[in-house]
Amino acid sequence: SIDVSKLMRETGHTTLDYGFVNTAATQSAITYIDGDAGILRYRGYPIEELAEQKSFLDVAYLLIYGELPSADELGEFDTRIRRHTLLHEDLRRFFDSLPRDAHPMSALSSAVSALSTYYAADHDPHDPRRVELQTIRLLAKLPVIAAYAHKKSIGQAFLYPDNSLSFVENYLKLNFGLMAEEYELNPVMVKALERLLILHADHEQNASTSTVRLVGSTEANLFASVSAGIHALSGPLHGGANEAVLTMLRSIQESGEGVQRFVERVKRKEQGVRLMGFGHRVYKNYDPRAKLVKSSADEVLEALGVSDPLLDIAKELEQVALNDDYFIERKLYPNVDFYTGVIYKAMGFPERMFTVLFAIGRLPGWIAHWREMIDDPQTKIGRPQQLYVGPGERHI
Ligand code: ACO
Repeated sequence: SIDVSKLMRETGHTTLDYGFVNTAATQSAITYIDGDAGILRYRGYPIEELAEQKSFLDVAYLLIYGELPSADELGEFDTRIRRHTLLHEDLRRFFDSLPRDAHPMSALSSAVSALSTYYAADHDPHDPRRVELQTIRLLAKLPVIAAYAHKKSIGQAFLYPDNSLSFVENYLKLNFGLMAEEYELNPVMVKALERLLILHADHEQNASTSTVRLVGSTEANLFASVSAGIHALSGPLHGGANEAVLTMLRSIQESGEGVQRFVERVKRKEQGVRLMGFGHRVYKNYDPRAKLVKSSADEVLEALGVSDPLLDIAKELEQVALNDDYFIERKLYPNVDFYTGVIYKAMGFPERMFTVLFAIGRLPGWIAHWREMIDDPQTKIGRPQQLYVGPGERHI
């Protein structure tokens, strides 16, 4: 077989590909996307079936180990995760050093980075037993860290994890519970969050996953790689879009300008005005995740007894955009972020927590990709080329 990259290097050829639109950096057996047909599968299973029939931990197991777990395997995986939920007390206090108005995504990434200082003896990426241990630690502790980032931002006391609860139940209690004993779980919220996390669990080589792989390719540890991935996710063109969508919907509501007017501004490409939650590098059709989220939104809001005019604005925006030539020609459809914020808001999460929820969902994907990269004998340190366009040699 021909090593194309070697051949290109030897013959002095370089591909200039801003944004890696056409360049594959790896082979992967984890997630399949057909963006024209609107298909998404994890390890071969359609996203619709997984979201309907499986739990988030089932899906995490599938992504990381390649197969859906049996009941025993799932039980053991769940038990191992529950055993690792506690944070070191010093790490709990780490949040004291952050400003009260720290964005929870920055707090999350910083705390995951700090986590790597506690388990440094187990960072060897080539020791499968240690990789496994770090995997479980990260899955167990990230939701706790995420909940503390939330509590920090609203000035409430941190609860200890309640290991009698499932992954999602525990997460909700850590966020919304006020005292150790007092929190009544709402089954509608548990099911809806389980589903949303599954929809976010992987999306092949998106910006944050590529960041995790690039950092990991230097053999930096798993926590460091994921911390970098969290920062990459925070941008409004990526995971940060779910928060940006709510800001956009609210500004349309408050300005009273109306949906049609706003869309005209988007089409004129006014500085900084984009239809957030629309468009995708890969999907040139309706994002299959957005379809599922949209169908959940009405259901969840109704079950929670919440009515939100922002959901009506979102639906009207979608209708206007989908019938407008600007969006039709460019194949711009709602992506996963368009309707999620309305649901998170109905659950009681502040807007600044929306992208943190995305990060919890995406964690199994990041871990699966990091491990696939480490196990792939073809992995090399990631090191893009450039085309130099600066001055030729000159002298002072
Ligand atoms: N609103 C208005 N116009 C858009 C939008 C949008 N949301 N998205 C793309 N376009 C236009 C561009 O202006 C461009 O128009 P042109 O051909 O006249 O120059 C054309 O569509 C192609 O857009 P690109 O920016 O080249 O597409 P790219 O694949 O690089 O960007 C991205 C994809 C970043 C997602 C973009 O669609 C966007 O900014 N969307 C809004 C932010 C968002 O929702 N991000 C979340 C993505 S999903 C996720 O990460 C989970």
